[in-house]
Amino acid sequence: EIANFGLYGLGTMGSALAQNIADKGFHLHVASYKPEDTEHFVANAGAQKPMFTGHRSLADMTAAMPGPRAIIMLIPAGAAIDDSIAQAKPHMRPGDVLIDAGNSDFHDTRRRAQALEAEGLGYMGMGVSGGEEGARKGPAMMVGGTESVWTTLRPMLEAIAADFEGAPCVDRVGPDGAGHFVKTVHNGIEYADMQILAETYGLMRNGMSMTPPQIGDVFATWNEGRLQSYLVEISAEVLRAIDPATDKPILDMIVDTAGQKGTGRWTAIEAQKLGVSASTIEAAVGARIWSAHPEARHTGQALFEVQRGEVALDTAQLEQAILAARILSHSQGFGLLSTASQEFGWSLALARCAEIWRAGCIIRSRLLTEIAQTYEAQPATTILAFAPAMVPLLETTLPALRTVVAESIKAGHPIPVMTAALAWFDGMTQARGTADLIQGQRDFFGRHGFARLDGGTGHHGPWDS
Ligand code: 6PG
Repeated sequence: EIANFGLYGLGTMGSALAQNIADKGFHLHVASYKPEDTEHFVANAGAQKPMFTGHRSLADMTAAMPGPRAIIMLIPAGAAIDDSIAQAKPHMRPGDVLIDAGNSDFHDTRRRAQALEAEGLGYMGMGVSGGEEGARKGPAMMVGGTESVWTTLRPMLEAIAADFEGAPCVDRVGPDGAGHFVKTVHNGIEYADMQILAETYGLMRNGMSMTPPQIGDVFATWNEGRLQSYLVEISAEVLRAIDPATDKPILDMIVDTAGQKGTGRWTAIEAQKLGVSASTIEAAVGARIWSAHPEARHTGQALFEVQRGEVALDTAQLEQAILAARILSHSQGFGLLSTASQEFGWSLALARCAEIWRAGCIIRSRLLTEIAQTYEAQPATTILAFAPAMVPLLETTLPALRTVVAESIKAGHPIPVMTAALAWFDGMTQARGTADLIQGQRDFFGRHGFARLDGGTGHHGPWDS
């Protein structure tokens, strides 16, 4: 077990995680990119001050710490991680571990882990979810690394993790990049969940003439029932919040262009590379992208008189439609985990992934607790939406999703994730689809050949090409 812990990067997440670690009784060496940030952090640590030893740089800290050392990096993904590894490595000895606790691309993590492990050094890619509050009070953590590195860090990580009914929300999910991959898919599901709620807000506001605080009240009621989730809970608070400067709902003052740092996009890209459909997550990424082009949207609105009318929907239908869309988007996310696990030889335990996400993380929800139970009962489930526990839930909620999508389309309200979820469901429940025509077209223009229902492959159609 490692007793010497360091943390590099004292931004919002790093500071919060450092305080959490100190709370649990672990002494922590700390450093940041700017030495004055470290001084400031230690000087303002209050009662925790004796728990921290500040250092002027990552290299200084690594050199000064007694071994074996485990250093958690909480710095922006990308080149900063490679730079930091280069600074720490000359001072590392076998048995030491560097932990990347940011949102890194799992391909980078695989590369870095393999390079350090080849030199006898430990490297862990750890997905951390829960934002600042999670980091401070207990995040969900998805660990990628060797068994031996996990064993040495496990007691500390279990101590700082979120707790779900006595179970810490942290585990080793696989080697090298597996932890960051699972976190990436978590974020993809997060994007879809967030967008589904934004779509619902749009329908209620523009199609049901409700004010943000009224919508917030409905969200708060939903949070007491089947839709209970952290994102519904905080959305209710955001919707109800009033801007002190203008006395208007704060949402009326927030520019409607959404940022993204990459994880949702990576989820969609990896799904495509692995031949898995993550169409709901793609739609959520796409919606953020078009949100980021306000000038074009203004031009569009001036050019076309799209009638955005009232929708004949009630909030009970919306509640059911949200649940159906969430089951389908979670199904796509878990399907991606399952395929990636096979492709990369990770043996991901999907039940463990779902269990880790039951508390501490951004997508924690009552549905996720049910999904964890589903994978515990049937670990080999490949299509979550078809699992015995999910089928009756979908049967009950699907009619509402269909009505919501139809009404929204008729009334001119964009709901891309709910639409994508329904299209995927309709496609995946149609034993004979329409790709026979795609195959015919491909053979017509490129002699690609097709399989025939009465046997054989490589057939060509009766056309001259
Ligand atoms: C979490 C969040 C967190 C963060 C991401 C997503 O699980 O705690 O996912 O990691 O919010 O950076 O951010 P973007 O929306 O900027 O991509």
